[in-house]
Amino acid sequence: MINPQSMHSISIKVNGKHYHLTIPPYMSLLEVIREELHLTGTKEGCGSGECGACTVILDGTPVRSCLVLGVEADKKEIITIEGLRDRGKLHPIQEAFIEADAVQCGFCSPGFILAVKALLDRNPNPVMSEIKEALGGHLCRCTGYESIFKAVKLAADKISKRSK
Ligand code: FES
Ligand code: FES
Repeated sequence: MINPQSMHSISIKVNGKHYHLTIPPYMSLLEVIREELHLTGTKEGCGSGECGACTVILDGTPVRSCLVLGVEADKKEIITIEGLRDRGKLHPIQEAFIEADAVQCGFCSPGFILAVKALLDRNPNPVMSEIKEALGGHLCRCTGYESIFKAVKLAADKISKRSK
Protein backbone atom coordinates (compact mmCIF):
# COMPACT_ATOMS: atom_id res chain seq x y z
CA MET A 1 0.00 0.00 0.00
CA ILE A 2 1.46 3.37 -1.02
CA ASN A 3 1.71 5.98 1.70
CA PRO A 4 -0.31 8.89 0.23
CA GLN A 5 2.25 11.30 1.69
CA SER A 6 4.89 9.83 -0.57
CA MET A 7 2.88 10.67 -3.70
CA HIS A 8 4.09 13.55 -5.86
CA SER A 9 2.16 16.05 -7.94
CA ILE A 10 3.51 16.82 -11.37
CA SER A 11 2.45 19.11 -14.19
CA ILE A 12 3.45 18.06 -17.66
CA LYS A 13 2.55 19.10 -21.18
CA VAL A 14 2.13 16.15 -23.51
CA ASN A 15 1.48 16.66 -27.22
CA GLY A 16 0.36 20.21 -26.47
CA LYS A 17 -2.06 19.27 -23.68
CA HIS A 18 -1.50 20.08 -19.97
CA TYR A 19 -1.87 17.34 -17.36
CA HIS A 20 -1.71 17.53 -13.56
CA LEU A 21 -1.06 14.12 -12.05
CA THR A 22 -0.36 12.61 -8.66
CA ILE A 23 2.08 9.72 -8.97
CA PRO A 24 4.32 7.57 -6.78
CA PRO A 25 8.00 8.57 -6.76
CA TYR A 26 9.14 5.37 -8.47
CA MET A 27 6.77 5.60 -11.46
CA SER A 28 8.68 5.88 -14.74
CA LEU A 29 7.78 8.39 -17.41
CA LEU A 30 6.94 5.40 -19.61
CA GLU A 31 4.36 4.24 -17.04
CA VAL A 32 2.98 7.77 -16.74
CA ILE A 33 2.52 7.96 -20.51
CA ARG A 34 1.05 4.50 -21.00
CA GLU A 35 -0.83 3.85 -17.76
CA GLU A 36 -1.90 7.31 -16.59
CA LEU A 37 -2.41 9.02 -19.96
CA HIS A 38 -3.28 5.87 -21.95
CA LEU A 39 -0.99 6.91 -24.82
CA THR A 40 -0.02 3.39 -25.78
CA GLY A 41 1.89 4.30 -28.95
CA THR A 42 4.99 4.51 -26.74
CA LYS A 43 6.20 0.93 -26.42
CA GLU A 44 7.97 -0.95 -23.67
CA GLY A 45 10.63 -3.28 -25.02
CA CYS A 46 13.51 -4.07 -22.69
CA GLY A 47 12.47 -1.79 -19.83
CA SER A 48 16.14 -1.14 -19.10
CA GLY A 49 17.34 1.52 -21.55
CA GLU A 50 18.74 -0.79 -24.21
CA CYS A 51 16.24 -0.99 -27.08
CA GLY A 52 14.95 2.54 -27.70
CA ALA A 53 11.32 1.41 -28.15
CA CYS A 54 10.11 3.72 -25.37
CA THR A 55 11.75 6.88 -26.79
CA VAL A 56 9.85 10.15 -26.44
CA ILE A 57 11.01 13.74 -26.90
CA LEU A 58 11.45 15.57 -23.59
CA ASP A 59 12.04 19.32 -23.92
CA GLY A 60 13.45 18.74 -27.42
CA THR A 61 15.73 15.83 -26.54
CA PRO A 62 14.98 12.18 -27.28
CA VAL A 63 14.99 10.16 -24.05
CA ARG A 64 14.28 6.58 -23.10
CA SER A 65 11.16 7.02 -21.04
CA CYS A 66 11.74 3.75 -19.15
CA LEU A 67 14.84 5.36 -17.60
CA VAL A 68 13.24 8.70 -16.68
CA LEU A 69 11.14 9.04 -13.54
CA GLY A 70 7.79 10.70 -13.95
CA VAL A 71 8.77 13.21 -11.25
CA GLU A 72 11.81 14.21 -13.35
CA ALA A 73 9.44 15.26 -16.13
CA ASP A 74 7.65 17.76 -13.89
CA LYS A 75 7.11 21.11 -15.68
CA LYS A 76 8.49 19.69 -18.92
CA GLU A 77 7.11 19.21 -22.39
CA ILE A 78 6.83 15.77 -23.95
CA ILE A 79 6.08 14.65 -27.47
CA THR A 80 4.95 11.09 -28.06
CA ILE A 81 4.20 9.40 -31.37
CA GLU A 82 0.54 10.43 -31.01
CA GLY A 83 1.67 14.06 -31.08
CA LEU A 84 3.17 13.92 -34.57
CA ARG A 85 -0.06 13.82 -36.54
CA ASP A 86 -1.27 17.21 -37.62
CA ARG A 87 -5.03 17.60 -38.15
CA GLY A 88 -5.38 13.91 -38.95
CA LYS A 89 -2.45 13.87 -41.42
CA LEU A 90 0.62 11.74 -40.87
CA HIS A 91 3.89 13.53 -40.23
CA PRO A 92 6.32 13.39 -43.23
CA ILE A 93 8.60 11.11 -41.19
CA GLN A 94 5.72 8.68 -40.70
CA GLU A 95 4.91 8.84 -44.43
CA ALA A 96 8.58 8.21 -45.26
CA PHE A 97 8.72 5.15 -42.99
CA ILE A 98 5.70 3.69 -44.77
CA GLU A 99 6.98 4.52 -48.27
CA ALA A 100 10.46 3.12 -47.60
CA ASP A 101 9.05 -0.10 -46.08
CA ALA A 102 10.76 0.75 -42.82
CA VAL A 103 7.85 -0.59 -40.77
CA GLN A 104 7.29 -4.31 -40.43
CA CYS A 105 5.92 -5.38 -37.04
CA GLY A 106 6.11 -1.70 -36.07
CA PHE A 107 7.01 -2.25 -32.42
CA CYS A 108 10.24 -0.27 -32.69
CA SER A 109 8.82 2.36 -35.06
CA PRO A 110 7.51 4.98 -32.60
CA GLY A 111 10.93 5.15 -30.92
CA PHE A 112 12.78 5.35 -34.24
CA ILE A 113 10.42 7.98 -35.64
CA LEU A 114 10.77 10.24 -32.59
CA ALA A 115 14.56 9.86 -32.63
CA VAL A 116 14.48 10.85 -36.32
CA LYS A 117 12.27 13.85 -35.55
CA ALA A 118 14.72 15.07 -32.91
CA LEU A 119 17.60 14.55 -35.38
CA LEU A 120 15.92 16.39 -38.28
CA ASP A 121 14.78 19.23 -36.01
CA ARG A 122 18.40 19.99 -35.16
CA ASN A 123 20.02 18.83 -38.41
CA PRO A 124 17.66 18.90 -41.41
CA ASN A 125 20.13 17.26 -43.81
CA PRO A 126 22.12 14.62 -41.93
CA VAL A 127 24.77 12.48 -43.59
CA MET A 128 24.65 8.72 -43.13
CA SER A 129 27.14 8.68 -40.25
CA GLU A 130 24.99 11.22 -38.37
CA ILE A 131 21.86 9.16 -39.03
CA LYS A 132 23.57 6.03 -37.74
CA GLU A 133 24.82 7.84 -34.67
CA ALA A 134 21.35 9.28 -33.88
CA LEU A 135 19.76 5.85 -34.23
CA GLY A 136 22.52 3.95 -32.43
CA GLY A 137 21.04 1.83 -29.68
CA HIS A 138 17.61 1.64 -31.31
CA LEU A 139 16.97 -2.01 -31.95
CA CYS A 140 14.76 -3.42 -34.70
CA ARG A 141 14.21 -7.14 -35.08
CA CYS A 142 12.54 -6.97 -38.49
CA THR A 143 13.87 -4.47 -41.01
CA GLY A 144 17.62 -4.95 -41.18
CA TYR A 145 17.99 -1.14 -40.73
CA GLU A 146 18.70 -0.29 -44.41
CA SER A 147 15.08 0.62 -45.06
CA ILE A 148 15.05 2.73 -41.89
CA PHE A 149 18.13 4.67 -43.06
CA LYS A 150 16.43 5.19 -46.45
CA ALA A 151 13.31 6.44 -44.67
CA VAL A 152 15.36 9.06 -42.82
CA LYS A 153 16.78 10.40 -46.10
CA LEU A 154 13.32 10.39 -47.67
CA ALA A 155 11.86 12.19 -44.63
CA ALA A 156 14.58 14.86 -44.83
CA ASP A 157 13.73 15.40 -48.54
CA LYS A 158 10.01 15.62 -47.83
CA ILE A 159 10.47 18.12 -45.00
CA SER A 160 12.84 20.28 -47.02
CA LYS A 161 10.45 20.34 -50.03
CA ARG A 162 7.53 21.32 -47.78
CA SER A 163 9.46 24.18 -46.23
CA LYS A 164 10.30 25.74 -49.64
S1 FES B 1 11.95 -0.06 -23.17
FE1 FES B 1 13.11 1.70 -22.76
S2 FES B 1 14.97 1.40 -23.84
FE2 FES B 1 13.89 -0.49 -24.09
S1 FES C 1 9.74 -3.25 -37.41
FE1 FES C 1 9.62 -4.95 -36.02
S2 FES C 1 11.03 -4.49 -34.46
FE2 FES C 1 11.31 -2.96 -35.92
